[in-house]
Amino acid sequence: MRSAILPLMFIVQRERGYLDPPGVSYLARRLRLRITDIWEVATFYSMIHIKPIGKYHIQVCKTLSCKLLGSDKITQMCAEKLGIKAGETTADERFSLSEVECLGSCGTAPMFQINFDYHENLTPEKVGEILDSLD
Ligand code: FES
Repeated sequence: MRSAILPLMFIVQRERGYLDPPGVSYLARRLRLRITDIWEVATFYSMIHIKPIGKYHIQVCKTLSCKLLGSDKITQMCAEKLGIKAGETTADERFSLSEVECLGSCGTAPMFQINFDYHENLTPEKVGEILDSLD
């Protein structure tokens, strides 16, 4: 049953926008696990959202390759342009900004992920263009 936790979390998240407490209770009941078993997994993985996120979730990689090649500047630029800090969502719920561990694209650092799309070899110019292109 435990092997089904992550795929089912994704389904609940897709349906409800994030993994909310009723969703956690539902999964615990269906999988015959404790609620804390579900929360342990949910709080470990950055791709599981335990609070509402914006339409566009910008996840800036902050691990070594990206850090050495300027991820701090990328995060700062996103924060300034969106008017939020990492870990926050804009008031209109369009954008959420997060800093995350390695996304497995170290050879094309610095990079960020917006929803399911990777954007690599980022420069300040590219970041501005990408953010401006989001409707
Ligand atoms: S260090 Fe950024 S993708 Fe791996």
